[in-house]
Amino acid sequence: MDSPFRVLFIGDIFGQPGRRVVKEKLPDLVKEFNPDLTLANAENAAAGFGITPPLVEELLGAGIAVLTSGNHIWDKKEIIPYLAGSSNGRLLRPANFPAQAPGSGLFLGKTSAGVPYAVLNLQGRIFMASIDCPFRAADALLAQVPAEVKIRIVDAHAEATSEKLALGWYLDGRVTAVVGTHTHVPTADEMILPKGSAYITDVGMSGPYDSVIGMEKEAVIRKFLDQMPARFEVAKGDARLCGALIEANPQDGRALSIQRIMRR
Ligand SMILES: [Fe+2]
Ligand SMILES: [Fe+2]
Repeated sequence: MDSPFRVLFIGDIFGQPGRRVVKEKLPDLVKEFNPDLTLANAENAAAGFGITPPLVEELLGAGIAVLTSGNHIWDKKEIIPYLAGSSNGRLLRPANFPAQAPGSGLFLGKTSAGVPYAVLNLQGRIFMASIDCPFRAADALLAQVPAEVKIRIVDAHAEATSEKLALGWYLDGRVTAVVGTHTHVPTADEMILPKGSAYITDVGMSGPYDSVIGMEKEAVIRKFLDQMPARFEVAKGDARLCGALIEANPQDGRALSIQRIMRR
């Protein structure tokens, strides 16, 4: 076997603290792990809500090859024309939004060393918007991935652990990894499924952990108490980069290992 193909996946980059910690820590991670491919979920890059075209460029410029997203993808209006036309395809939106939505949930690319790869972005439906079925969307996306593309990474952006785990089992053996995002809370269940797909329910957020999933905790607590509309601000303290490193056999795309990563 050739040396393993390494994928660094960075969890939901949240606001300015998230962008800062990624820019600070990513060079160290690149030195330590020498990833062939670096991916990140960027749905919260713009003050917790969505992402703008300049922030897409900023994160791609920091060495991230493809950005995935989720339910917050539409929060910044300027991303809609960007996804509709002028983008380079490296910002994904969940594939299972209705076909009328601009953008794509699949990226097919090659690393600088010429290894082809696919990135797939799916969104769950439990406690989330009732968009199209992520399982069937995954089947449709995989039908578009050429057989010679062995490295296939899925961002499973979902609230319910059950839905993400079911997606992991459903896709086992057909993709290199199913990496969960969206809850902003890392889980300790990383594993290699029997047919060779790496899996983790959630890699956690890259952002401020002195918070409630990224926002200033006082306002969130107040809202739980009074149930009134509230304005949330991005928290500042305890910024961490969270993600996972997956090693795979480049010949068949099967995962060899997965480890959680947290850097502060
Ligand atoms: Fe998120
Ligand atoms: Fe989300």
